[in-house]
Amino acid sequence: MDHFEVNGGSRLKGRIDVSGAKNAALPILAGCLLCEGDVVLRNVPRLRDVHAMLTLLQRLGVVSSWQEDGSLRLRVEDEMNCHAEYELVSRMRASVCVLGPLLAKRKRAQVAMPGGCAIGSRPVNLHVMAMEALGAESELVNGDMMLRAKKLRGTEMFLGGAFGSSVTGTANAVMAAVLAEGRTMIESAACEPEITDLCDFLKGCGAQISGHGTPRILVDGVTSLKGCEHTIIPDRIETGTFMVAAAITNGELMLHGARMEHLIAVVDRLRRVGVNVERGEQGVVVSSSRRLDPVDITTQPYPGFPTDLQAQVTALLCLADGNSVITDKIFPDRFLHVAELNRMGANIRREGGTVIVHGVKRLVGAPVMASDLRASAALILAGLIAKGTMRMSRAYHIDRGYEQIEEKLAGVGADIRRVSE
Ligand code: EPU
Repeated sequence: MDHFEVNGGSRLKGRIDVSGAKNAALPILAGCLLCEGDVVLRNVPRLRDVHAMLTLLQRLGVVSSWQEDGSLRLRVEDEMNCHAEYELVSRMRASVCVLGPLLAKRKRAQVAMPGGCAIGSRPVNLHVMAMEALGAESELVNGDMMLRAKKLRGTEMFLGGAFGSSVTGTANAVMAAVLAEGRTMIESAACEPEITDLCDFLKGCGAQISGHGTPRILVDGVTSLKGCEHTIIPDRIETGTFMVAAAITNGELMLHGARMEHLIAVVDRLRRVGVNVERGEQGVVVSSSRRLDPVDITTQPYPGFPTDLQAQVTALLCLADGNSVITDKIFPDRFLHVAELNRMGANIRREGGTVIVHGVKRLVGAPVMASDLRASAALILAGLIAKGTMRMSRAYHIDRGYEQIEEKLAGVGADIRRVSE
């Protein structure tokens, strides 16, 4: 198992190219199951989760190959298998995105229940409810969701749950509805840019969708989808992570290709603590030059502050001049980074779904353990400013969602290296 070593103290300066969005690429890859003909995807990030999705798609009869120009070409060749097995689904929860496409195209889907993960309980009741609303029958067999439908019919559905809408639940609802008979209205749909990107991809393939990017999506069913060429949007969570890297090291980074309009809530909070964020011609420029102020943050569905940046911003606020209160309303148990940050000298106290961060003057290097993707990003960020060496084990977590993070950070002056054991 690889680990990371980071020696803190370098001011980061320079340009980082932002990769394609993991959470847009994964549902779009699943959406290829709907298409007849070749799909060509550009800006697909080469991540562990993307490779896991390609393995799942291969088992479901999809042939894929990386092209010389960096694009990914996919084509469905065999529609016999409809089973996403527990071995893959338990490794990557986004595997659940094949549910809607399999049901719509092959009339049946058998997808292992994902279960919980390090960031808390991850139910799929909204996904199943959406499929049932479209006319599917469902049962639970040996831990697998079994769904069948001779025909899906357009309907009205409400996708709001106890914690807001569901991002991948909305993706599944849209992907099932595109081949249903008639009109589907998805009320309380997720508004995340990754859902908009999925809908733009499906429209390129011939789907009839409107209202994406708002809480009410309308889908008029068509009889088939063709392939198309599509470019994945830049990753707003990777962008936000590098924004924090610039802020925490009092550095200056130009995040090339980043789209500031996808990060307005984050920009608002960063400016509030004293970070400079400017829209550049080809991306976003982030810099800071003083000790930051504290701020309160509550994570919410888009356009609110994203839960996927909660851990990273917690690391930043560890060094603020005062107390910050951070509440995660999406995943109230997503705080496994807290104990590790405290090992590095932070002063964070957790009360349920909230943490109170008492700013300290410095963090110190220590051996720490990554528990999940965004927690591991937070630990690396803390390592960038810590005195001494931070050694983070279980590096595979970061590889799920950050493309070549050590190369990108080293390229702007960080002292970071991956050590293979
Ligand atoms: N929820 C339900 N019922 C459901 C589904 C979700 O109650 O059927 C709840 C969840 O427990 C949570 C809330 O609804 O409290 C939102 O969960 P959502 O379904 O939106 O999460 P997701 O679709 O499983 C995606 C991202 C996550 C990101 C969340 C929230 C992908 C592949 N994953 O997950 O990304 O944290 O939305 O924005 O898009 C990550 O990249 O690190 C990551 C975990």
